[in-house]
Amino acid sequence: HGQKASGPHRPQYHFSPKAHWMNDPNGMVYYKGMYHLFFQHYPEGTTWGPMHWGHATSKDMVHWEEQPIALYPDSLGLIFSGSAVVDVNNTSGFGKNGQVPLVAIFTHHNMKLEKSKQSNQFQYQSIAYSLDEGKTWTKYADNPVLPNPGITDFRDPKVRWYAPQKKWIMTLATKDRVTFYSSPNLKNWTKESEFGQEIGAHGGVWECPDLFPLDVNGKKAWVLLVSINPGGPNGGSATQYFVGDFDGKSFKPYSTKTKWMDYGTDNYAGVTFSNTGDRVILMGWMSNWQYANVVPTTSWRSANTVPRELGLKEVNKELYLTSNPVKELDVLNEKITSLNNIAVKGDYDLIAKTGGKADRFRLALSAPATNDFSIVLANEQGNELVIGYDKAANAYYIDRTKAGKTDFEKGFGKRHTAPRLSADGTISLTLLADVASVELFADNGLTVMTDIFFPEKDMTKLFIKSATGISITNLKYARLAPSVEAG
Ligand code: FRU
Repeated sequence: HGQKASGPHRPQYHFSPKAHWMNDPNGMVYYKGMYHLFFQHYPEGTTWGPMHWGHATSKDMVHWEEQPIALYPDSLGLIFSGSAVVDVNNTSGFGKNGQVPLVAIFTHHNMKLEKSKQSNQFQYQSIAYSLDEGKTWTKYADNPVLPNPGITDFRDPKVRWYAPQKKWIMTLATKDRVTFYSSPNLKNWTKESEFGQEIGAHGGVWECPDLFPLDVNGKKAWVLLVSINPGGPNGGSATQYFVGDFDGKSFKPYSTKTKWMDYGTDNYAGVTFSNTGDRVILMGWMSNWQYANVVPTTSWRSANTVPRELGLKEVNKELYLTSNPVKELDVLNEKITSLNNIAVKGDYDLIAKTGGKADRFRLALSAPATNDFSIVLANEQGNELVIGYDKAANAYYIDRTKAGKTDFEKGFGKRHTAPRLSADGTISLTLLADVASVELFADNGLTVMTDIFFPEKDMTKLFIKSATGISITNLKYARLAPSVEAG
């Protein structure tokens, strides 16, 4: 049994809350065979409001079951974004009789202080622990554990264990930079360093950072994710990243180039799961502050991206982050159709060739990077979503100007572009569609675009188009099964 999810535009294999508002994923942690997802949640409305941590669990990151709310606002404030760790060595002392505590580290946002305008110290970090594998949470009696030093934006703690120095590292968003803190016990925090004031994109406030190592070329490099709002490459909210070294004290980037994890407009505040061993797995919020509160869904608002496995790849002496859908998603594949050496000139009807549908599917294809081509989702209402490769610009794009409802926000109906970073002569694409979203993973995840859209009726047509003509080397299509119960 999974979660009921119905209504127009409701994704069928992405996590969305049963009802009401959701924003950032929080406290994602894997423990004893269970993936936990917490999320910014307002359980009394469909727009942003007093924040709670909603909770959902899954054994495979594909089938999610919503659980009771994990953290409620209290006298210290609303419960903003943060992370969770498995305190294996019980450094916090919350474990009793050999129990291993799960510890959540989050921002308390004090509305009263904020409104009083007498203080800019209304955000501070607090902790809570669970001794029953994440089911229930107890807030620490001596919260906050990290008071505000006088910075208006002081939030979104992402904590990880730094084994070489046996200490916890907190990566915190502090307005226009990231500040690193360390702690032996999750309760006492010491400032280590700051990063970012003079590097990267600064079109908006820095939020929801994450820091993790990845292997590349037989070495370890550290990735620092920083979400910014606004200032994204196609408008509104987006996530940039830096690759460099981290020594337990400070982060040193290898390059000054601004890099984006996802060029679409709808992957924000993404962070990685704790405790997944060598795998680095991220989920993001599939929306954008530019219009999140006004998108045309009714009883619920927002979904997450699919979980994505992250890696690093070197191209022309630069290290880039790669994101690809986790292999667990393969359980959703219904019958797979494989086609080879397809000459496309004009419109190639994929529904006719595969017997599939256009609402939710996975499409993978490879083709020489020599000509323009596009993948088009459409319906009888004349809605059209176009995902394509523009040879002259050497760029990918998603055009949602005619994809359905756009009038709820003036900047929504746009064409978004992303540079092709790969130097390969062959393009390979994976596209995931789920009713009202597409996630494009180009060149094995080097260029990624995530966009939501709101067709007036479900998409029923699916074409590959090329005016100049293109030869698709191979193509795989699979309709995807829902992972949620129809409501
Ligand atoms: C990012 C964010 C965080 C904050 C949360 C509040 O989307 O603004 O910085 O903790 O949302 O809901």
